[in-house]
Amino acid sequence: MQPGKNAAWLRPTPATFDKLLHSTSVPKQSDKEGVTITEKRTQFVHTGYELDSATQAITPPVFRATTYHQADPWNPPTYDYARSGNPTRHAFESAMSSLEHGAMGLAFSSGMATLTAAFMLLSQGDHLIVTRDCQGGTQRVLRGVFSRFGIQVSYVDTEDYPALEQALKPQTRAILIENFSNPFLHVTDIPLVSQWAHEHHLWVMVDNTFITPYLQNPLTQGADLVIHSATKMIGGHSDITAGIAVAKDKDLGQQLYFIQNACGAVLSPDDSYMSLRGLHTLPVRMDRAQETARKLAEVLQQHPRVDEVYYPGLATHPGYEIAQRTMRGFGQMLTIRLKDASWVTDLAHRLTLTKVGAGFGGTETILSLPELHCHAALTRDERRERNITPDVIRISVGLESETDLIDDILHALDQAES
Ligand SMILES: Cc1ncc(COP(=O)(O)O)c(C=O)c1O
Repeated sequence: MQPGKNAAWLRPTPATFDKLLHSTSVPKQSDKEGVTITEKRTQFVHTGYELDSATQAITPPVFRATTYHQADPWNPPTYDYARSGNPTRHAFESAMSSLEHGAMGLAFSSGMATLTAAFMLLSQGDHLIVTRDCQGGTQRVLRGVFSRFGIQVSYVDTEDYPALEQALKPQTRAILIENFSNPFLHVTDIPLVSQWAHEHHLWVMVDNTFITPYLQNPLTQGADLVIHSATKMIGGHSDITAGIAVAKDKDLGQQLYFIQNACGAVLSPDDSYMSLRGLHTLPVRMDRAQETARKLAEVLQQHPRVDEVYYPGLATHPGYEIAQRTMRGFGQMLTIRLKDASWVTDLAHRLTLTKVGAGFGGTETILSLPELHCHAALTRDERRERNITPDVIRISVGLESETDLIDDILHALDQAES
């Protein structure tokens, strides 16, 4: 079904960049006397799509068409070809652009496709600074692909300012901050590092997957580009693969749009729909999960079999103060280090609710072993150098009842044998 010609969410979207540029698309509340959006939760439900004027459908149609009839080829219609622009994808891009306070959102087929597009902004000989404790896929693509195109990379603790200064080279063009970092949840002060980076004319890119646009908006704190694997908290149900970048200004958005259209790793219409749907419930999911995460972190901190708990919401975490100052919450991810790695296999067998595997951000709690899952792309030596050992367990807290979940994990932890 086609939406009405005047559907408001279609209006700003002809097939050239300038016309695709979308800054904000919060529904015009002025139509409804006296109603203004005051809270993020409301904004997540009502951003990116207005009622289709032809059908009054309250969710956007999924457009699978790859091409569009051009009755007057010299004056083409709003969309011309699916790689260059798709109405359903545009609804998600537009929502994210608005929620992240950027000039343009661009959705890709995965988080890695998004990071890859961001790295393609660089040129041969450029140098990039990357958070040292970053997810394995970022390091894999930089080492296995971009090194062949002459991109040099320094991995640095981006919360360590002297180390940042030391890493700087005349060829440094950008810094990619993973916030929180993975798996140890280091916290980078985005306003401070952005200021430093701009003094050196660097692009500031932030992989905001762990925090989500609900808890932090790096573009309002000085970053130039924010990146998400929407496979995780945005999709929220472990059933889509998606990614999105939002550029702060039109110029960077234009460069990234060129890459999206030229290279073609665009997000499918179905997964665009699912990503947009995920945004509607992100705040309530995050509120619920982060409350449980904090309780679980506190309980595990007291457990005799746990050596360390890494959760930025604990006052003992080195990034607590920065997180409190720059974010609106502490998120649903925590990592623990057991006192004995030989308990890990039996612990995994004894869990009944909690799942074990790669991935995070779903409704179910997922326990990952960085040694085998998210950091398998690193060599053993690289993992050891980053303190990633077989006793490290990352936990993505889901929506189970706090009591059931904590019981499940504590039972497995108490009983686990070597
Ligand atoms: C922080 C972060 N960014 C990007 C990605 C890549 O996302 P995707 O799996 O959607 O390609 C991941 C994957 O786990 C991630 O953890």
